[in-house]
Amino acid sequence: MEPLYEGKAKRLWATEDPEVLRMEFKNDATAFNGEKKAQFENKGRLNNEISTLIYGYLEKEGVPTHFIRQIDATNVEVHKVEILMVEVIVRNLAAGSFCKRTGVEEGMVFSQPIVEFSIKSDELGDPLVNDDYIRELKLATAEDLAFLRKSALRVNEILGGFFAECGLKLVDFKLEFGRLANDPSKIVLADEISPDGCRLWDLKSGEKMDKDRFRRDLGDVMEAYAEVLERVKLAVGG
Ligand code: TMP
Ligand code: ASP
Repeated sequence: MEPLYEGKAKRLWATEDPEVLRMEFKNDATAFNGEKKAQFENKGRLNNEISTLIYGYLEKEGVPTHFIRQIDATNVEVHKVEILMVEVIVRNLAAGSFCKRTGVEEGMVFSQPIVEFSIKSDELGDPLVNDDYIRELKLATAEDLAFLRKSALRVNEILGGFFAECGLKLVDFKLEFGRLANDPSKIVLADEISPDGCRLWDLKSGEKMDKDRFRRDLGDVMEAYAEVLERVKLAVGG
């Protein structure tokens, strides 16, 4: 059997139900648009566990998502969606490409969250775009874009509070959205939410607990992910 789609960190598989897919988390890690590659034992499992708990929490908070249920250690069932080619990034503190672009030092706290959009394209390196680019490239309508912005800010509020309970600062994160295959008028949150696509800093020590450990060769990458999972488990259970 061939997957319907294979990305850098996940595979999508068909199921008996044409409106349901199986999403498999791989152990592959990439950074800098796939330039840097590695494999980490347990990465698929850790990201699946973390993402599943967070999706459950978001659903409970009333955020519509593609998530249906966890199947096993590295697989979940999701509603089939058509992924929007616009990625949504929310930033609470300066880090990563924001610092590179502006020269600002990492850690500057924003007075309000920054929402930014980029084109989902490895070839182009996920370039930052504004509303006018998105309109002319027909990537989303103005109405869709307003919805994405509002949803991303709502997720930021929910997850900011959630990760604070985990003793973690939610520095920034990337979201993807999709149109439900069986009702394209509905846009839902899709993809994973894990330390691959979020920056998380320990509230006390400031230590990085996310994929920056891999990007910057800080070591103990999976140890940090495992620690995030333990804290997330405690926060949802408590
Ligand atoms: P950036 O600072 O590199 O633009 O990243 C912002 C956030 O988005 C960070 O938490 C990592 C996440 N991200 C992804 O999940 N995938 C990507 O391809 C990129 C560029 C960033
Ligand atoms: N996700 C992108 C990649 O795999 C960029 C990154 O996260 O640094 O290359």
